[in-house]
Formats: sequence, C-alpha cells, structure tokens
Amino acid sequence: MRHIISIGDFDREWIDSLLDHADRIDGKQYDSHALGGKILAVLFFEPSTRTRLSFESAIARLGGTSLTVGSVEACSIAKGETLADTIRVVSGYADAIVIRHPKEGAARLASEFSTVPVINAGDGAGQHPSQTLLDLYTIRQSMPIEGIDIALIGDLRYGRTAHSLASALSHYNARLHTLCPRGLELPETLSTRLAEKGMEIIPHENITDIIPEVDVLYVTRVQRERFPDSASYFNVSSSYRITPELLSDAKKHLIVLHPLPRVDEIDPRVDEMPHAKYFEQSRNGVPVRMAMLLQVMQ
Ligand code: CP
Repeated sequence: MRHIISIGDFDREWIDSLLDHADRIDGKQYDSHALGGKILAVLFFEPSTRTRLSFESAIARLGGTSLTVGSVEACSIAKGETLADTIRVVSGYADAIVIRHPKEGAARLASEFSTVPVINAGDGAGQHPSQTLLDLYTIRQSMPIEGIDIALIGDLRYGRTAHSLASALSHYNARLHTLCPRGLELPETLSTRLAEKGMEIIPHENITDIIPEVDVLYVTRVQRERFPDSASYFNVSSSYRITPELLSDAKKHLIVLHPLPRVDEIDPRVDEMPHAKYFEQSRNGVPVRMAMLLQVMQ
C-alpha cells in the first residue's frame, strides 16, 4: 500500500515515471477497465472544482466508481465524529481515499488510520501533491524541467501548491524566484530545507524584474480562507496582476501557470496569449490523476 501525502516523500525517478505514465494515458494508451470494480472515496472538507472533479473523472475513465462527501455538513463529522473514526469507517467502503481538509497534517493523519491508500488533495496550507504532478507535467509539455528559472508569485505562505511545487523542483536543479506581499513569504522551514538541498532562491520586490528572467511564471491566489480576518486579507490582496503589457518583456517561450481558481491575479486578456497554459494545466489533472490512481489502486 502506498499513500501519496507529500511530494517530498518521492524521488525524481518516481515523479518522472509517473509523468511518463500520464503521458501514455494522455495518448489514450490505457485500459478503460483497469480499475473496474474499484471504489474511490472522495472526501472533500473544503471547496474544490478541479481536484475533486478530475479525480472523479479519472476513476470513471478507468472503469471504477466514486463515493463523494463534499462538505463537513454532509457527513457525521458534523455530529462530532473524529476524522480518525471517519477514515477507519470509509476505508471499509472503498479501495482508496482522496482527502482535502482545512488542517495541515490531516491527510497524513488519515493515512495512519486507513487500511487503504490515501491521496492528499490539499491539507490546509500544507501540501497538494497531485497539483504538483500536473504542474510538472504541464511544464514538461513546453520545456525540460531540468534547470528552469521559475517565479512563484503571490501567496507563498499559505499557498500549498507553491509549497509542493518548490519541493519537487529541488530534484530538477531549478532556480526559484519569489515575489509576494510582505508577510506571505515561503515558510522558513521550507526555504531552509530547499536551500540545504542546494536550491537557489532569489527573492524579488518588483514584478518587472522577474518577468524577463524566467521560463515559468507560477501565479497563485492570495488564500483568503486562511486569513484571520477580512482586513488582513484586503491589505495584501490585489498586490500583483499579470497583464499583456507586463508580458511584453517575457522570453518568447515563457509559460504562465496558475493552479486556479484565479481571482484577479491574471488579466483575462492574457488567456489569449500563447504564454497562457493554465487551462491546459487544469485539463492535465485528468491523465495525471489517472496515473496516480493506477499507481495506488492497481
Ligand atoms: N487547483 C485546485 O486545487 O483547484 P480546486 O480548489 O478547484 O480543486
């Protein structure tokens, strides 16, 4: 049994092999009955469009079925049941569990009580490994990942997609450029760990300095739901907005990624530019998550 909780639990060989598998799946090289008779429990205790629906699409395309809980109110956690008991029970009903939870560490805890594989679909401000795999997959469609210059822009403190991606990129000798509102820097434990692995992290203060430097612009939303109050959110929201004018200084091959949903970080006019890859990125969630399900459920 193999859980997928943090991208840091996996080496480059495992990641590359999973992306190769996703590539074959994308080319329709898969058995649409491979997971026939298998059941995936999809426990989402936070809102989601992409992650939840693409996991459900992935299991359906492989011949399996899903059981979904879409909120705390819709299950017995609302009556006071612990997450541990919920997981013990659900692992009797399904062959794998995908969980999203507002608390960092919840997916790891779930894996300790589950008798079936657990996939972390986002735990608070912690990790989001399936997003990272599809981010890497999308980068690889445009350029080799090895040695890229990538900018992480936005909420680097609470943005779990940024945390997971930065960890994974330490396997690929990437150079990390960061730009964020004051107070939303990468957690120090993470930046120290990355630096110890030899990753170069270059903080910037101006977006115009970053754009000509990088191959990938990874833009994130300020995570309003993690702020203690609206005032502190509005102090830092709308700090950056990627526009066609800003991108006029970009390298020709630069790609713009965003895990989505976006609020106002990317001007919709960018959608029509060849740099914009964020909708392809969200589509890539299906083959990548199919590869993940085959990895843990077959
Ligand atoms: N990228 C992402 O996790 O999107 P959802 O919150 O819609 O799943």
